[in-house]
Amino acid sequence: MNATEAVRTKLDSREFASKAVEPEIKRAVLEAARLTQSGVNSQHWRFVLIQDPKNLSRLAADSTTGSWVAGANFAVVICTDPTKGYHVLDAGRAAQDMQLTAWDSGVTSRLYTGIKQTEMRRDFGIPESLNATVVVGFGYPSHKLIGRKNRKPLSEVAFLERFGNPVDAL
Ligand SMILES: Cc1cc2nc3c(=O)[nH]c(=O)nc-3n(C[C@H](O)[C@H](O)[C@H](O)COP(=O)(O)O)c2cc1C
Repeated sequence: MNATEAVRTKLDSREFASKAVEPEIKRAVLEAARLTQSGVNSQHWRFVLIQDPKNLSRLAADSTTGSWVAGANFAVVICTDPTKGYHVLDAGRAAQDMQLTAWDSGVTSRLYTGIKQTEMRRDFGIPESLNATVVVGFGYPSHKLIGRKNRKPLSEVAFLERFGNPVDAL
């Protein structure tokens, strides 16, 4: 799958098959995170891979918007330094690279940002200097996902030269 195809077909899933994701795919996902660009190449992030079902349940309990992560095969907590003005953007980029890398191997994913910081520090040892900014849950799809993308048309979200100018002329 090339990058364009990965972007075109990737959907976010809350439901995952029970099939285990192979360790080499998990490593490839972490490697994608490591290789992602960050502001001034500061690489302030740290990534915690969670695969023990007990810990996935803890992750779910420590979330306000990601209870579905209890059913993921594994998850990655993206920790970033909140003193960097661009830290959330960096987290998003790492998440996207991890998600597309997993999808290249047929592994789907979804992220959440509703995270209880105090509980995450207690349960996963995240230091005070970092925030748990994004959690991405991964697993093989439980059903076929292709072909359900619900997005606004290009004419509504993109313009040419000046905000509001149609892109038709492109
Ligand atoms: C910045 C961001 C924050 C998100 N936060 C949550 C979240 O807290 N909980 C959740 O279940 N999904 C979350 N999502 C997933 C979105 O709801 C999902 O990407 C969107 O509905 C499109 O899904 P689709 O690709 O399957 O159409 C988030 C996605 C992004 C990009």
